[in-house]
Amino acid sequence: MKSYFRPAIDALAGYTPGEQPKIDNLIKLNTNENPYPPSPQVAAAVAEFMSRNLRRYPDPAADRLRDAVAARYGIKRENVICGNGSDDLLTMIFRAFTAPDRPVAVLDPSYSLYPVLAAMQEAPVIRMPLDPATFELRGRLGELARGANLAMLTRPNAPTGNSLDRAAVEEFCAEFDGIVAIDEAYADFADDNCMEFAAKYDNVLVLRTFSKSYSLAGARLGYAVGHPVLIDGLMKLKDSYNVDMLTQIIGCAAFADEATLNAHVAAIRATRARRAAELKKLGFTVIPPQSNFLFASPPDGDGERAFGELRRAAVIVRYFPGKITGRFIRISVGTDAEIDRLLEVLRGVYL
Ligand SMILES: Cc1ncc(COP(=O)(O)O)c(C=O)c1O
Repeated sequence: MKSYFRPAIDALAGYTPGEQPKIDNLIKLNTNENPYPPSPQVAAAVAEFMSRNLRRYPDPAADRLRDAVAARYGIKRENVICGNGSDDLLTMIFRAFTAPDRPVAVLDPSYSLYPVLAAMQEAPVIRMPLDPATFELRGRLGELARGANLAMLTRPNAPTGNSLDRAAVEEFCAEFDGIVAIDEAYADFADDNCMEFAAKYDNVLVLRTFSKSYSLAGARLGYAVGHPVLIDGLMKLKDSYNVDMLTQIIGCAAFADEATLNAHVAAIRATRARRAAELKKLGFTVIPPQSNFLFASPPDGDGERAFGELRRAAVIVRYFPGKITGRFIRISVGTDAEIDRLLEVLRGVYL
């Protein structure tokens, strides 16, 4: 059949989401989900929700949530936009700021959705290479991103789990003649974050998600913070009702419960530290983790083998083929029991 698609879409491979396998007794550590349940306030809000409300459209702007976010950071509703997951916000940002004559700069390696969104826009991608051993930046951001209209800074980065130097990010925000979108999907697990740059610099957007630290990957909710002019422009691009009614209610309930967030983040950080130490004892190289996952290279540098051995034991982690990333596996930080099982399997292979 003749293709009616734009050639760029025919050529597109499409984004490959992490596997959601249906295997009994599976230990699932491949998509950076939270091993703990969401805030009990979420269940209470859902129980209270009257399904008859569903015949109505949701608030198109999700203003209750925008107000809650604004109150937390001491900004205004006009500085906040909500999305159907941060992937939805990323789609809006790429639509808004990239085109064949408006390149995007991305860290390499980084979140594999960015090049897919760039390809949909037929926008050139400028890769800012990270050191293949440490995954730290080689060179100055200002020089590496030169010519881009949009720079994606993923902090902490995925799949490497480490964070760019905060002072270098601020220097870049101040000097870059383009939009800096700081994807902070994992910031709640990190030692620091860049949220204040969104209020300080009018070319900066900071993105957050409820998928990781709030245990709400299934609800699909994220938000971006930035100058009202940027937020206004993105509002024009979003689907009219991009966050459904139930998700808005769930998001407000989870966001208000800081105690549950802090407890789960603390548990994950403690497990992360313990697991990193155990992996190092087995001869793994572990990139300094700031996220809810570990990027670790086995003693033989064969990530695919480690992935395969774990999979045979029904422990699913993520493997990214490639000369540099292929030396590693990415392990989401699960519960202590899940980790004990993972370590048991790895000890059987590498000791
Ligand atoms: C760096 C990064 N940004 C954004 C996302 C998407 O998050 P969401 O579930 O909010 O769409 C992910 C998900 O894995 C991610 O790793």
